[in-house]
Amino acid sequence: MKIQIDHKDFELMIEHEQVKKRLRLIGIQLNVAYEYSIPVFIGVLNGCFMFMADLMKEVHIASEVCFVKMASYNGDQRQEEVKSLIGLSHSLKGREVIIVEDIIDTGNTLKEVIQMVEKEEPASIAVCTLLLKPDALEHEFEELAYVGFEIENEFVVGYGLDYNGIGRNLKDIYRAV
Ligand code: XMP
Ligand code: MG
Repeated sequence: MKIQIDHKDFELMIEHEQVKKRLRLIGIQLNVAYEYSIPVFIGVLNGCFMFMADLMKEVHIASEVCFVKMASYNGDQRQEEVKSLIGLSHSLKGREVIIVEDIIDTGNTLKEVIQMVEKEEPASIAVCTLLLKPDALEHEFEELAYVGFEIENEFVVGYGLDYNGIGRNLKDIYRAV
């Protein structure tokens, strides 16, 4: 099936049913891995909102859920770019943290999110991403424990992901053609 978003063509890549099947398996892994702790799931907005909602329905252990957003602004007099996480309201000290991402491309964003979460001194950090582009990845992450689907180096939309702000509401995932 083909669709058009903002004059660009996309074709169906991953159906929602396939995503749901994958999330059931990831949910089982998480339920086992964190059975004896109360982990904190941190969703990185905006892209993660749909994935996070479906993933958490498969997590049956006691857990906390919160969301952050990356902010970048010119901080001090030296005009260095300072990045921060908006929305991290409670302490992560000594907690088991699972960062939830929609997609990891170069890994630059994730690297910064991990660095900021590390400052909070959690007991552990794991990363759960719906999509991963292995060929685009520029960093190694030992935290990358849960991956929904590995995809080619291609642009995708739907299920939280956007093209020029459009398409986040699509139930299935589409690739640019
Ligand atoms: P990096 O390179 O930092 O990129 O890992 C992560 C962010 O880039 C966006 N991104 C995409 N967004 N379709 C999208 O809609 C894509 O194929 C895509 N690849 C990267 C996304 O915001 C992600 O958090
Ligand atoms: Mg994102």
